[in-house]
Amino acid sequence: MIMKKIDITANINGIQLPLCIMNASGVLCSTDQELSNLLDSHSGGVVTKSCTSQPRKGNILPRYFEWNMGSINSMGLPNFGIHFYLGFLEEKKINKPIFLSISGLSTEENYYLIQKANQSSKVTAIELNLSCPNLIGKENVFGYNFDKISNFIEKIFKFNKKPLGIKLPPYFQDAHIKNIASILNQFPIFFVTCINSLPNGLFIDANKESVVICPKKGFGGIGGPIIKPFALANIRKFYTYLRKDISIIGCGGISSGKDIFEHILCGASAVQIGTQFMKEGVSVFERLKKELILILEKKNYSSLNNFKGKLKNLQ
Ligand code: SIN
Repeated sequence: MIMKKIDITANINGIQLPLCIMNASGVLCSTDQELSNLLDSHSGGVVTKSCTSQPRKGNILPRYFEWNMGSINSMGLPNFGIHFYLGFLEEKKINKPIFLSISGLSTEENYYLIQKANQSSKVTAIELNLSCPNLIGKENVFGYNFDKISNFIEKIFKFNKKPLGIKLPPYFQDAHIKNIASILNQFPIFFVTCINSLPNGLFIDANKESVVICPKKGFGGIGGPIIKPFALANIRKFYTYLRKDISIIGCGGISSGKDIFEHILCGASAVQIGTQFMKEGVSVFERLKKELILILEKKNYSSLNNFKGKLKNLQ
């Protein structure tokens, strides 16, 4: 039997990924060792931990908990500061696209971080995180600030020259996605990543009659399998409303090749793995790659373009 060659590379608005699967920012991508592991892994790209201008310790421990259906976190952006990440990249031989995730605590800080990222030839693209739900004293997720986003992004594109994408929070109303999409459509944005964790979830331990993480009285961002339907819904809606040249990176609830297939069917060009990467480590990328290839083989597809965005309706 002659096997068809199956292409599961990805193209994010011109950025070529050798594999459509990479890590989600935040998970095992903060330290020198973790980033080196990712560079050595099968992942199609490396996304760094969202960084700020100065190092941050993040929120008080315990700040991460997982159960069979998902995870809850309130990390609070612990990171070594942008200079550490740019310095790390400078020292390394880079063999795949690098997405520098940034998450300034103010618009001014974001402008500063974008300027710094522009100065590094090792950064392929910037993933601007407008969706961290865990900042104590800064409870407003900027991605929900419909009034301010447009001005903020307009100023970025006055100086930014790097490919830039935005990591969005989950939206729950069609009108909100339409609104954000129509704002993003006005700018030369390369991609959106949907979705960050679902903000302000609560997981409890009934035996102890207690919350399971310490910061914010136990409230945190929810990830893992339980959020997949929300990720798929956001990808599908953004695929409908965004300009066709803005790629979508799907994130949320992926733990199998079938989950990746579903994200791409909704319109994602590539995917990121968070909770499952935390559980499984870097071997997750090779396993998911094999599972995805098996599905494509069974369906007689030779590339992602055969089914990307082609989800069928029932009428
Ligand atoms: C965190 O560091 O709190 C998580 C980052 C995020 O959800 O964007």
